[in-house]
Amino acid sequence: MLNFDFYNPTQIMFGKGRIADLDKVIPAGAKVLVLYGGGSIKQNGVFDQVMSALGARSITEFSGIEPNPSYETLMQAVESVKKNQIDFLLAVGGGSVIDGTKFVAAASLFDGADSWAILEKGGRNVTQALPFGSVLTLPATGSEMNNGGVVTRKSIKAKMAFSSRHCFPKFSILDPTTTFTLPMRQVGNGAVDAYVHVMEQYMTYPVNSPVQDRFAEGLLKTLIEEGPKALSNPADYDIRANLMWCATMALNGVISTGVPQDWATHMIGHELTALHGIDHAQTLAIVLPSMLRIRKEGKRAKLLQYAERVWDLRDGSEDSRIDQAINMTQDFFEQMGVKTRLGDYQLNADHIPPILAALETHRMVAIGEKRDVTLDVSRQVLELSL
Ligand code: NZQ
Ligand code: ZN
Repeated sequence: MLNFDFYNPTQIMFGKGRIADLDKVIPAGAKVLVLYGGGSIKQNGVFDQVMSALGARSITEFSGIEPNPSYETLMQAVESVKKNQIDFLLAVGGGSVIDGTKFVAAASLFDGADSWAILEKGGRNVTQALPFGSVLTLPATGSEMNNGGVVTRKSIKAKMAFSSRHCFPKFSILDPTTTFTLPMRQVGNGAVDAYVHVMEQYMTYPVNSPVQDRFAEGLLKTLIEEGPKALSNPADYDIRANLMWCATMALNGVISTGVPQDWATHMIGHELTALHGIDHAQTLAIVLPSMLRIRKEGKRAKLLQYAERVWDLRDGSEDSRIDQAINMTQDFFEQMGVKTRLGDYQLNADHIPPILAALETHRMVAIGEKRDVTLDVSRQVLELSL
């Protein structure tokens, strides 16, 4: 096992009716900015629950944080923080709203002249951030219990990630009943995103880490079992609860302790979203199966372990077990309603060179757990995904 530091200070408040407990975790005298997206929380009653829990606190609202939150929009929220002397942020929504709130928390107290520098440095220049909490309405990203975020600068079509130990939520409220109103597309996206998060931290090479491996395999098997049930039985609380906790555990730092990590699928996926507006999880469903096929040799030992323990494949040659496991992974994404080919999103071979150029601009030329995913490898992956 590799050396590691594990630090995660986020309090999780899980279950039905927990939004009322906001009153206990936000200081009574706080001047709160409530940040949210395009309005789903107004239609499903989450907004009303939040407002009633906040009671007499001074509240300012900031709405309109879009999926794949934009720097341009978030800087308007930073203005509001400064103008209204806000001292606590509350994100209410999915990963985009929570990521956006992390950026606002950091940018509001940022020393530099231009807050885009936070993205250019991946968050290494963040030395402080406003305190914030979240009410999660979409299980997918794990943003509710990690310190990372992804922000898009529309004007230059750049989607960049940042992280900082100052950007953990103080608390996150996970009430699975808030997810009942999710469109099926987002239910599918959420399960696929969580699945790929586990794969990025698990599907590398063995370092004798049975705790992390079995934990990861448990999360993958849970997503395979519960994901389709959420589509066929959307009103079932327990299914929603299991998916919600699974997505959080998939990216809160636990399963990445002491193991190598890949993240090449995510880096290529970010370019697909920045250039073509494809949903985050859809980009991952396009890239991951081909990524595993192209990098089969480097990942052979873990692919065999995955085939046996996650998909119960024990018979046949090594290669056939690996091939079957990758096919079953791709079938699972399709079963969740997430299409897995570039062609499904009206993209063809002509679209590949600009994606590679964007990867080069963003210095994503030696990625993956062994830094051997060069632009040429990325090209092969994308060509196989046509
Ligand atoms: O904007 P509203 O009206 O709220 O609608 C949203 C949005 O249209 C809707 N929605 C959310 N909860 C709902 C709901 N609709 C009905 N009922 C509910 N309960 O769902 C749509 C998508 O929301 P969004 O927040 O964009 O989705 P998601 O949670 O998948 O977040 C995606 C973003 O997270 C980033 C992605 O890159 C992307 O920008 N990621 C963040 C990570 C992190 N912080 O660790 C890791 C991930 O890999 C990912 O990169
Ligand atoms: Zn993701």
